[in-house]
Amino acid sequence: MGIQYFEDERVFWLNTKNTSYILALVDEEPFVGHVYYGKKLSDYHVRHLMRLEEGPFIPSKNNRDRAAFGDAFPFEYSTHGVGDFRESCLKVQTQNGHEACSLIYQSHNIFAGKPALCGLPATFGSEAECTTLELTCLDPVLNLEVVLVYSVFEDVDALTRSVRITNRAENSIVLKKALSACLQLDGIDYEYITLHGSWARERHIDRRALTHGKHSISSLRGESGHQDNPFIAVMTPGTTQEAGEVYAMNFVYSGNFLAQAEGCQFDTTRIVMGIHPENFSWTLEKGEQFICPEVVMVYSDAGLGKMTRTFHDLYRSHLIRGEYRDKKRPILINNWEATYFNFNTEKLLSIAEEASKLGIEMLVMDDGWFGHREDDNTSLGDWTVNEDKLSGGLKALVDGVNALGMKFGIWFEPEMISPDSDLYRKHPDWAIQIPDRLASRCRNQYVLDISRKEVRDCIYEQIKTVLSSANIEYVKWDMNRPLTDLGSFAYPAGRQGELSHRYMLGVYEMQERLINDFPHLLLENCSGGGGRFDAGMLYYSPQIWCSDDTDAIERLSIQEGTSIVYPLCSMGAHVSDCPNHTVGRTTPFQTRGEVALAGTFGYELDVTRIPQQDRDMIPAQVAMYHKYNDLVRTGDYYRLASYSENHAYDCTEVAAKDGSEALVTYVEVIRRANFKTRRIRLRGLDPNAVYENEETKVRYTGDVLMYAGVQAPETWGDFTSKLMHFVRV
Ligand code: DGJ
Repeated sequence: MGIQYFEDERVFWLNTKNTSYILALVDEEPFVGHVYYGKKLSDYHVRHLMRLEEGPFIPSKNNRDRAAFGDAFPFEYSTHGVGDFRESCLKVQTQNGHEACSLIYQSHNIFAGKPALCGLPATFGSEAECTTLELTCLDPVLNLEVVLVYSVFEDVDALTRSVRITNRAENSIVLKKALSACLQLDGIDYEYITLHGSWARERHIDRRALTHGKHSISSLRGESGHQDNPFIAVMTPGTTQEAGEVYAMNFVYSGNFLAQAEGCQFDTTRIVMGIHPENFSWTLEKGEQFICPEVVMVYSDAGLGKMTRTFHDLYRSHLIRGEYRDKKRPILINNWEATYFNFNTEKLLSIAEEASKLGIEMLVMDDGWFGHREDDNTSLGDWTVNEDKLSGGLKALVDGVNALGMKFGIWFEPEMISPDSDLYRKHPDWAIQIPDRLASRCRNQYVLDISRKEVRDCIYEQIKTVLSSANIEYVKWDMNRPLTDLGSFAYPAGRQGELSHRYMLGVYEMQERLINDFPHLLLENCSGGGGRFDAGMLYYSPQIWCSDDTDAIERLSIQEGTSIVYPLCSMGAHVSDCPNHTVGRTTPFQTRGEVALAGTFGYELDVTRIPQQDRDMIPAQVAMYHKYNDLVRTGDYYRLASYSENHAYDCTEVAAKDGSEALVTYVEVIRRANFKTRRIRLRGLDPNAVYENEETKVRYTGDVLMYAGVQAPETWGDFTSKLMHFVRV
């Protein structure tokens, strides 16, 4: 049993294969305290680590220091207003304006399995795979019930948390802040990493020292955003890929978030994560419940590499759903960078015809096929085929593509509305905006109020009609602007603060409908590149477009940061044309292919117009994908050298879980003059086995490859790359 309660110590002991997480109840007044998270313990007698015998003492023993106690006790779920001045997780407001809240333990329930979170994405597992603790707390003055929910995935070494808040009082109460998780660590001598970026530069790894005070990242954009990803890892100083302790949190949510590490006055660290309290308030009427989205927590005692592999294992088996979860994805060719808006049936068929000859398996028609959309100024919301472009209609095009032996996919941007659209002319009040205030356009579009069912139904029915009209096997769900001017015409006074979260619930509801109605569909989420690459979206789509920057060298940092949390099988990665459309760089076609191999793999170019020598390389790249994708999708990922750290070269490895093979990708970014080849030390092999380099036929023992290493292949020129495949003999 992964979770046990011991009455003698009043301790909850949550165990996975290699970690322990321990909570304890205060005797006199049962506050829930955090005791320990880290390497697995063999004994649960650790409640003394709550330091209850030191001042400030437990208030029921000596109430003179209740506030001081509140500011020192390691609360498992912190509340606002009664003395804890560190970051609170829960802040409420009663009808008469009071904001204080204090939680004490009531009861608990431990059971096998893990319940779903109604309307929200969440990890899942069978009764054999996970155990759940529901710890019910109460503020007796407010009659507010707060259930702290923990699940452990024992074999995967991961823990999840969420919170259910129920108003048991007669009067309504407003939640002004309801975060999902709080973790107390002893000491502040830590560093932390986050994933920072911008459009076309998503998820670059940012590393800083933790000091006293609050260190936070967040999004208020209504999406998780390009700028900060809902991930934070606090770690011991000097942590590497292989060594050091790491405490990581990742939010299974796609909207506004706050992730924060706080160095506190008594040299403790409090890490919190949840829906950002700005742009948020939620009224709970009598009996109503609010569910805080899930946070995944991972502890690693062996550096960032182990943390990464734990996230990958969890998400590949317990978050991503559907038919494509464990399947090779079709190699697609997307026409966005090939044609932008300038295409018609003939052009698409010419691309498909050439692509099919080269072994590419699916054509994706991107933005511009509907309404009268010749550029990005119009028609979002009018999801009817533009037959001037697609002469003969969509079905004729799809049939034509299918006749070439290829699948067909299509682009939508369901959450948006163009001012120049029939939909907007009919329903201007469906756009999110504030009456009497000039609404901010972005890419000349507004965001639809997806929180309203009638809006969702209208858009969804249009999408369903299109998808039912032809054999469409893939959808790219795009979202190209943040939410601003937060106002819904449908909400009563005092409820506008609910819009951002209700919007996310609406998006989730639509995507759930889509994958239920079309269970064989491959869904790829996207947001102006990788602006919504998060664990919430992975619950609906097995892959997410990583970035609009398809340059192979830029992609090294983007994919490095993305893959620190999210599995390779989820990273949308394509080979595009050069000079690259975002940075103007020209890289070898081989490098573009080998870098894209670390993701879902596909093409984003006009295959009828690229240089012949590039085109000639496609069949070999297709074969390379088919040869290695099972390994890339399912293997253990190791970062052997990071270009973003050394500014010269990059090297990653995927090793089969059974140690039978390993694929190393080496990229010489800047070639150095008069220099020897570099030594690469592999990971994840069987030290006693013999491996053969498939190309050179040279044999090495696993221990030689891992401890002594092998010379990286010699390449000539900047931006060059090489794969090395080692197979157990
Ligand atoms: C942003 C996406 O990231 C691109 O791939 C493309 O689909 C455009 N939107 C289309 O508008």
